Amino acid sequence: MDHAAHYLFLIASAREPGHVGNTEWLARRAAAQLAPDAQQTWLHLSDIPLPAFVDQRHTTGTYPWPDDRVRPLLDATMACTDLVLVSPVYWYSFPSALKTYLDHWSAWMRIEGLPFKEAMARKRLHLITTSGNRAKAQPMIDSTKLCAEFLSMTFAGALWGKGGPPGAVQSDDVAIAAADRFFLPPAA
Ligand SMILES: Cc1cc2nc3c(=O)[nH]c(=O)nc-3n(C[C@H](O)[C@H](O)[C@H](O)COP(=O)(O)O)c2cc1C
Repeated sequence: MDHAAHYLFLIASAREPGHVGNTEWLARRAAAQLAPDAQQTWLHLSDIPLPAFVDQRHTTGTYPWPDDRVRPLLDATMACTDLVLVSPVYWYSFPSALKTYLDHWSAWMRIEGLPFKEAMARKRLHLITTSGNRAKAQPMIDSTKLCAEFLSMTFAGALWGKGGPPGAVQSDDVAIAAADRFFLPPAA
């Protein structure tokens, strides 16, 4: 039986609470084209107190289940069919909250009884990003694609818009047109 798509949007901007950044705005524009039966979950990484990642791979070798504050992020990651990184470019790379989340994948792969790798291999990974110019986003786009490949996920593409102060991307007509197509199935 086919299950409806479930999109998890992870917002990585470090803007203060209540301030919608360019990247989130562009993501919400794209999400407006999702099929009505597609489930959407939106999480701000800044709301989740992810601890610093500790590399125990070659000592204990396993990790405990995360605590009650982090567990919803793991559960949401496991539950989605489509993971959408909603991430501005910071220093040509992922903002630190998103980088820490990705580091925790390395722990989640090693929780006993959690088939994390198997579950990830069935998901699609999307990236929605903004930055000063497109070239500066390329390293992050490449990293996202490589992360997808590492976990045998399908890399479903990147959407880029020109950011800056809040509202800037709303003047990027090319990005808005791309957002309106981003989640549509490819034309036959
Ligand atoms: C810490 C930090 C680092 C940044 N580094 C870059 C960068 O390397 N290249 C770039 O083009 N823009 C950079 N920017 C600008 C942001 O990518 C841009 O303002 C983006 O639109 C912010 O997204 P938001 O509005 O969703 O928060 C940086 C901004 C911050 C706060």
